[in-house]
Amino acid sequence: MVRIRGSLTVPMALAAQVAVVVGELPNCPYLGPVFPKPTNLASSDTISQAVAGINSAFAGYTSDPANNPNQTSWSVQVFSTSDNDGSPVWENYHTAPNVNTSAPWVSVVDGNTIYRLGSVTKIFTILTFLVEAGDKHWNAPITDYLPRLSELAKDNEDDFDPITDVDWSEVTLGGLASQMAGIIRDYGIMGELTQENNQSTLMSQGFPPAPLALVPPCGEFYLCTRDQLMDGLKLVPPSWAPYTTPGYSNLGYQLLAYALENITGRNFQDMVENDVIKPLGLNHTFYTMPPSGSPGIVPNGNNWGWAFSLGEASPTGNMYASISDLSSLGRAIFQSALIPRATTRRWLQPAALTSELVASVGYPWGIRRIQLGTDTNRVVDSYGKAGSINAYQSLLVLLPDYDVGISALLAGTWPGNANWDMADLIGEILVPALEETARLQADSAYAGTYELSSPEPGSSATNSSIVLSTDSSRPGLGVDSWYSNGTDMIAVAVRYTLNYNVTAPAVRLYPTGLESRSDGNATRRVAFKAVVENLDATDETGKMFSTDCGSWVSQTAAVYADMPLDQFVFTLGEDGRATQVKNLALRAQLNRMS
Ligand SMILES: *[C@@H]1O[C@H](CO)[C@@H](O)[C@H](O)[C@H]1NC(C)=O
Ligand SMILES: *[C@@H]1O[C@H](CO)[C@@H](O)[C@H](O)[C@H]1NC(C)=O
Ligand SMILES: *[C@@H]1O[C@H](CO)[C@@H](O)[C@H](O)[C@H]1NC(C)=O
Ligand SMILES: *[C@@H]1O[C@H](CO)[C@@H](O)[C@H](O)[C@H]1NC(C)=O
Ligand SMILES: *[C@@H]1O[C@H](CO)[C@@H](O)[C@H](O)[C@H]1NC(C)=O
Ligand SMILES: *[C@@H]1O[C@H](CO)[C@@H](O)[C@H](O)[C@H]1NC(C)=O
Ligand SMILES: *[C@@H]1O[C@H](CO)[C@@H](O)[C@H](O)[C@H]1NC(C)=O
Ligand SMILES: *[C@@H]1O[C@H](CO)[C@@H](O)[C@H](O)[C@H]1NC(C)=O
Repeated sequence: MVRIRGSLTVPMALAAQVAVVVGELPNCPYLGPVFPKPTNLASSDTISQAVAGINSAFAGYTSDPANNPNQTSWSVQVFSTSDNDGSPVWENYHTAPNVNTSAPWVSVVDGNTIYRLGSVTKIFTILTFLVEAGDKHWNAPITDYLPRLSELAKDNEDDFDPITDVDWSEVTLGGLASQMAGIIRDYGIMGELTQENNQSTLMSQGFPPAPLALVPPCGEFYLCTRDQLMDGLKLVPPSWAPYTTPGYSNLGYQLLAYALENITGRNFQDMVENDVIKPLGLNHTFYTMPPSGSPGIVPNGNNWGWAFSLGEASPTGNMYASISDLSSLGRAIFQSALIPRATTRRWLQPAALTSELVASVGYPWGIRRIQLGTDTNRVVDSYGKAGSINAYQSLLVLLPDYDVGISALLAGTWPGNANWDMADLIGEILVPALEETARLQADSAYAGTYELSSPEPGSSATNSSIVLSTDSSRPGLGVDSWYSNGTDMIAVAVRYTLNYNVTAPAVRLYPTGLESRSDGNATRRVAFKAVVENLDATDETGKMFSTDCGSWVSQTAAVYADMPLDQFVFTLGEDGRATQVKNLALRAQLNRMS
């Protein structure tokens, strides 16, 4: 397929008319959704079955002592932008016997119960930043915004040692946001052993006497002030130079919030509350401890764990929210409710790879790549952020291919990976069901025969048609046949796209996300892009550099008078069903017959 070495100037005979046969290789779609995003999930039989499946998996989860359900409470949801009234696709609430039932704490958890978020707070921090300042500052150095770090960079200039000194002039805001800044994880607050243990304990564990000048004067029990942090940053070494490799840093998010305060001249908490919490109506979400009387869940003996503040480090993990609010946040991200769509598209992309083949990092996402089935090139990317703080654990997972997400909040003595375990359990059933629902909806909306039913008077072009179908084992809309004025256009598209003769041509259409509305929104036009490929090409699986899945390189290989041969525009009626399709190069508007 990716025989890009052929040049378009090499003369090639028109390929003989070829029948569509199924070859060996899996199709290679463009990355992203292969069908329009599914809607109206509540009315889908496939989703109802998946919900029943998730319910029974969760019954097993709840009765398994390994999950410590007698000491762990949770609120978990699957949400979608197509839940019109905000009611989730699926939800599960479990109250363990160990919760403090004294007022005001809840004795039974539900969608409005407030938990602590830990590092899921970082999603609010980035969204607040994007609302206020967009992402245009991502490549600017932090020294442009924090005078103390700017002074530090200047002081370091003369005797800078890359091993002991952070080069703050190279640490960018985007680097901090995507965990690529190369700075240490925390200052004083977590992992600083002198904060939690005395000298005799530490020396009995093999540590030498601590040099007093380097023991942070603040951290967990006396929270560091901004000045104390800036003083401390003079003393700490980098982990790596910026943009060497991902390295998680809570400190980075604190600095990011300071930078935003510098850009806007406003207080960070005020921005989180007025830019995100209030506009989205998140009445059960708080930057600091919720007012007394709020419906929080507090396991017995954990009042301190509910109340303690991260102080200046709050942008990295202090927040509180209910599961309904966390799901609303997820919907708002998909809907670009607070920022431009282009910014959201950039936000939901990876920033850097990790040492795990299926994982990368974003802002502040951990990205997991989910392969749908075996021997397939259909990859669903998920954007997640987890958190844990004291007795609380949290998770938000976004599946942008479907505008569906999973949210989980836990409280108690959960086993280490409980939030992710839940997402694994749900995702295994949910993701294939979402793909199948999207396929069935696409089949109903687009599959069938389209013909030129009423040609222009005097025109001989009466034999133009296209037949589309879906197949549960293949991505996108399959082009079963495609004629223009009596000519087989699959052969023509292959000839102009691949420049060699093939025995198993395949043409499939994928949504581009481009759409426009007219007639006062009654008519919608949506654009699809074809992949023209050869399923009998050499299987390159396991090769070091060669690939048989590089469709993205061959897009728009053939253009006729400015219009691409691989771009198809459907016209949809008010019921969301296609009535017409036009190939942009061929110009003719074909009407849907069936
Ligand atoms: C939870 O506690 C109840 C009452 O002590 C007990 O019957 C049950 O087996 C426990 N469940 C699990 C999963 O440990
Ligand atoms: C922002 O930071 C710059 C550079 O560090 C500094 O000169 C400026 O005074 C700061 N502005 C505000 C509003 O804090
Ligand atoms: C140090 O901490 C240990 C463990 O908490 C405690 O037993 C010991 O008395 C402490 N020593 C001093 C000198 O405070
Ligand atoms: C949040 O509270 C405000 C004021 O009480 C109310 O108008 C609004 O409907 C609430 N929003 C939600 C989503 O409950
Ligand atoms: C339960 O919460 C109440 C109210 O905050 C508090 O007074 C009490 O000490 C808590 N009980 C336990 C066992 O933590
Ligand atoms: C259809 O093909 C015939 C035969 O080549 C040609 O005369 C005619 O102009 C074509 N019509 C269109 C609309 O392409
Ligand atoms: C349309 O063209 C195809 C391919 O040339 C031919 O097989 C088919 O019979 C034609 N149909 C009509 C109605 O002319
Ligand atoms: C493709 O097939 C045609 C018709 O059989 C033939 O004339 C042509 O040489 C072939 N081209 C290549 C590149 O093999």
